[in-house]
Amino acid sequence: MVLENKLGITSQIALASAEEKISKQKARQLFETGALDTLEVGTFAGLASIHHYLFAGIYDFAGKLREVNIAKGNFRFAPVMYLQQALKHIDAMPQNTFEAIVEKYVEMNIAHPFREGNGRATRMWLDLILKKELKQVVDWNAVDKDDYLLAMERSPVKDVEIKHLLKQALTENIHDRELYMKGIDVSYFYEGYSEFRTGEL
Ligand SMILES: Nc1ncnc2c1ncn2[C@@H]1O[C@H](COP(=O)(O)OP(=O)(O)O)[C@@H](O)[C@H]1O
Ligand SMILES: [Mg+2]
Repeated sequence: MVLENKLGITSQIALASAEEKISKQKARQLFETGALDTLEVGTFAGLASIHHYLFAGIYDFAGKLREVNIAKGNFRFAPVMYLQQALKHIDAMPQNTFEAIVEKYVEMNIAHPFREGNGRATRMWLDLILKKELKQVVDWNAVDKDDYLLAMERSPVKDVEIKHLLKQALTENIHDRELYMKGIDVSYFYEGYSEFRTGEL
């Protein structure tokens, strides 16, 4: 089923393409306008701002809590009934060490607060926390897609794999435009989008 969208698109291929292009343009603008550095770091409000920024031109649900239960593979994300409670708890989680930050990220993935776009928005949210707290970000190009998705699938039970995978990819190049733009491209590649280059849009 094609997600209801503001563009009136009814073809899933056309929607995927438009979503990729428009939201990547927004991701680029977030960096280039400096808006990224004005967001609240490590809270649901900050994540909702990112999600809204990326997807507001495409979906009514941009930045808004989902109203349906969702699952991926065998995993059911937080039931809608407990979502607000879960997000309140996540907001209060510490973010002063690498381990604490990844644990917070894993919990936010389990919450999966939006109807779509959680993976892409939450990886940007993760990088903002790492940047502020540790003066590091993830070089997503150094994180293999299959390894990443397997580690995330495993993360609700055991977080050692995702911690290891992200740790070996940390970099101090936190202001590097190229690294940011390529990171967005890799993050989209994880989700099956690879038609457009963020840095060129
Ligand atoms: N089986 C799983 N268990 C837990 N998390 C998963 C699983 N499969 C995927 N994920 C996480 O969900 C993200 C995708 O969520 P989604 O809302 O579809 O984001 P996007 O629209 O950006 O693709 C993946 O990047 C990964 O972090
Ligand atoms: Mg998706």
